[in-house]
Amino acid sequence: MNSKHHYISISQRKTIFSNKTLSSAAAIWFVTAVLGQWIFAFYVAAFYGGAAINGDFMKWNRVLPHGYIEGDTIGNMAVAIHLLFAIIIMIGGPLQFIPQIRNRFPAFHRWNGKLYLVTAFIASFSGIYMVLTKGTITGITGDISVSFNGLLIMLFALLAWRMAVVRKFKAHERWVLRLFLVVNGVWFFRIGLMLSFLLNGGPFGFDPETFRGPFITFLGIGQYMIPLLILELYFFTKDRTSNFGKLTMATALFVMTIFMGLGVFAATTGMWLPRL
Ligand code: HEM
Repeated sequence: MNSKHHYISISQRKTIFSNKTLSSAAAIWFVTAVLGQWIFAFYVAAFYGGAAINGDFMKWNRVLPHGYIEGDTIGNMAVAIHLLFAIIIMIGGPLQFIPQIRNRFPAFHRWNGKLYLVTAFIASFSGIYMVLTKGTITGITGDISVSFNGLLIMLFALLAWRMAVVRKFKAHERWVLRLFLVVNGVWFFRIGLMLSFLLNGGPFGFDPETFRGPFITFLGIGQYMIPLLILELYFFTKDRTSNFGKLTMATALFVMTIFMGLGVFAATTGMWLPRL
């Protein structure tokens, strides 16, 4: 064999290094996000599930002002389905992205994927139904921004499904990543809110009495717009920038991961654990 074939030039080495750094930064972001989402899922199962098992549905209302309403069977069912599906989505979704599982158990990937798309769709549908019938505590702006989040989830779920059916796997992968981020919009809202408490030493940019204010409006839209914009930037960097661009993106992702981790810590210790 000609030794020329084994020679890796310095510029190739740099390319390999920057690609690896970027994918490692993305992997560290992903693992942190998944751990944070599983803590949220655990809280939902323990708090709402625990109360339901004990038949103490009134306990739901300690967190959700209109969670359980005596006699409102359809409304209560919508909330129950919403919460149950939220758990399924948050636990099962991330498994789809793990290549070892995908490659070794393709049938699991297909079934869990279908389950994810259907549950995400119905969780959003029930969410929009809850908004329309009961409203959110953030008022009309929050109602609109979270309903738009629900529409995006349904749209992206359809597109992700379509791309898998027509076997356009690169497009499928991109749509499921977008879907994964918008599905976690309500989680981003919570960690963003609790991060602001942590950094500010108390409520920031809103009136705690009414739960309204510019920062709440910003978070309501930012919960899906910011992650989506960053993801598009990531795709762009991955596909068509220089090594410098990739290393800059990796550094930015790393810094964002630290803040996200702080937000998870703040939400876990300040909101979820105290309720259990
Ligand atoms: C698909 C991803 C979603 C997940 C994982 C999810 C999860 C949850 C969880 C865990 C709660 C309980 C709140 C808590 O204890 O902190 C909740 C409540 C709620 N969610 Fe969602 N949600 C999702 C999407 C949506 C969407 C898209 C909407 C609106 C269009 C929505 C509307 C609501 C409403 C209105 C409540 C409060 C119910 C009440 O007070 O009666 N959710 N959601």
